[in-house]
Amino acid sequence: MTQYQHVTADTSVYRDGTIKLHGPEGFEGMRKAGQLAARILDEMAARVQPGVTTEELDRVVREMTLDGGAVPATLGYRGYTHSCCISINHVVCHGIPSDKRLKDGDIVNIDVTPLLDGWHGDTSRMFLVGDVPLKAKKLVDVTYECLMAGITQVRPGARLGDIGAAIQKIAESRRYGVVRDFCGHGLGRLFHDAPEVVHAARAGTGPELKAGMFMTIEPMINLGRAHVKLLNDGWTAVTRDKSLSAQFEHSIGITEDGAELFTKSPTGLDKPPYI
Ligand code: MF3
Ligand code: CO
Ligand code: CO
Repeated sequence: MTQYQHVTADTSVYRDGTIKLHGPEGFEGMRKAGQLAARILDEMAARVQPGVTTEELDRVVREMTLDGGAVPATLGYRGYTHSCCISINHVVCHGIPSDKRLKDGDIVNIDVTPLLDGWHGDTSRMFLVGDVPLKAKKLVDVTYECLMAGITQVRPGARLGDIGAAIQKIAESRRYGVVRDFCGHGLGRLFHDAPEVVHAARAGTGPELKAGMFMTIEPMINLGRAHVKLLNDGWTAVTRDKSLSAQFEHSIGITEDGAELFTKSPTGLDKPPYI
């Protein structure tokens, strides 16, 4: 049985398995955190270039986050020591910023989560480095289409499984693999909270969606098979078959008639090409 809880100042910070239902104050907090996150990714669009190192990008993310009055939620999270995740080509997610330089033809995901006034804005986008092969661009386009198709399912009365079903249908019709090992998640005052938002599911299954729920949708779609493995650093997830992988993520809130996208780009840079 799914349990829901209208949050109060006292209950909203506990991870107790309930799905939290937020009021106007929560929406306002998430809007601010989400918009800071979106502005940081907007800035990345200009900075993702051949030759830049991922730790330089991480430094810019950290500085913009702090300048915005927030802290990077990933910094110190379960021993993670960077301000964002940067996942290149066959890296599925949780790529660690390093002295590695981006090169022409790479596809890159940057995932940021500023924690602003107690609220988490969790979002990621794909970036194309220089000239990218058509099949990689297609993967990126379809992955964005998957995210938005998932979001389109969101409204009170729908079921959580409707989201994954919409995503899986699009991805598998192209013979792409939908990653099962990582999910979207509830969030708010907590970074990762109930429910788990799976990206492959059956329509009409799972908990009912209700106004006031906050969650991320963040499909990871592989050009090859769905299977991933974790590298020895304990973080970096890669495709087992070394095929390319793409991901987009939005943080959303459920309203009376659909979804509010907290992390939508204020300047229209939601997906490449960013011109
Ligand atoms: N931002 C990621 C997510 O979408 C989580 C990153 S946790 C980290 O849930 F520690 F790897 F940074
Ligand atoms: Co997330
Ligand atoms: Co994220």
